Amino acid sequence: MSTNIILLGPPGAGKGTQAKRLVEERGMVQLSTGDMLREARSSGTEMGQRVAAVMDRGELVTDEIVIGLIREKLTSGAASGGYIFDGFPRTLAQADALAALLDELGQSLDHVIEMRVDDEVLVARITGRATCANCGEVYHDVTRPIPADGKCANCGSTEIKRRADDNEDALRTRLLAYYKQTSPLIGYYHAKGQLESVDGLAAIEAVSAEIAGLLGQQTQDA
Ligand code: AP5
Ligand code: MG
Repeated sequence: MSTNIILLGPPGAGKGTQAKRLVEERGMVQLSTGDMLREARSSGTEMGQRVAAVMDRGELVTDEIVIGLIREKLTSGAASGGYIFDGFPRTLAQADALAALLDELGQSLDHVIEMRVDDEVLVARITGRATCANCGEVYHDVTRPIPADGKCANCGSTEIKRRADDNEDALRTRLLAYYKQTSPLIGYYHAKGQLESVDGLAAIEAVSAEIAGLLGQQTQDA
């Protein structure tokens, strides 16, 4: 049986880090709208060029674009291990669109997991972050340093990069966008009886264990 989940939290909460682990451990499919948009901008499509400046400022791109990206992924094939929605939905309109889309496809939304963190840790997490451009593995200068040989521990690539929006100015805008546009989703999912939360300030392994507790013991073969 597949399980579809949302990881909800501000920039730097650890959504991507935990999503990667769920992909490896449970065979789930990560749908990160941030990654999709970065892919579009690096491939130079018209849409990619349109969103680049918006992303660099730390603002949200339009609902129409991100809903279109998610629709395309969900309708192009099934994920037997289920989907992890990472960084989507980010507005109430996106949440409604996701509900309608899952309904249309006969699928359910099984867990909405809020990753609770304090703003103070986010600056350190974001400014210390580096990501493998090849496989998406996430590093941090202090908590998870890039291996000494400069190669990604997961895939061996030397293309480990920093994001253009990982600076204090853009982060301020990203946080503001989170509180204004995304945090109302906490009330939205709470009212629907779907909200669960984990302590995002705990160590990466401890957060994974807490998420595993919420998802139950289901594995890739289940
Ligand atoms: P997106 O790529 O989604 O960025 P974000 O939401 O700002 O979140 P991040 O990726 O920065 O943080 P994360 O929670 O994934 O943290 P991570 O695991 O990397 O979006 C980018 C932009 O795209 C947006 O600003 C917007 O413009 C646009 N966009 C995307 N989706 C959109 C949508 N739906 N609608 C409109 N616009 C959209 O961890 C961060 C660091 O902390 C890492 O270095 C990691 O190693 C470290 N870390 C993680 N967990 C821990 C831990 N437990 N303890 C210590 N360190 C940890
Ligand atoms: Mg991320």
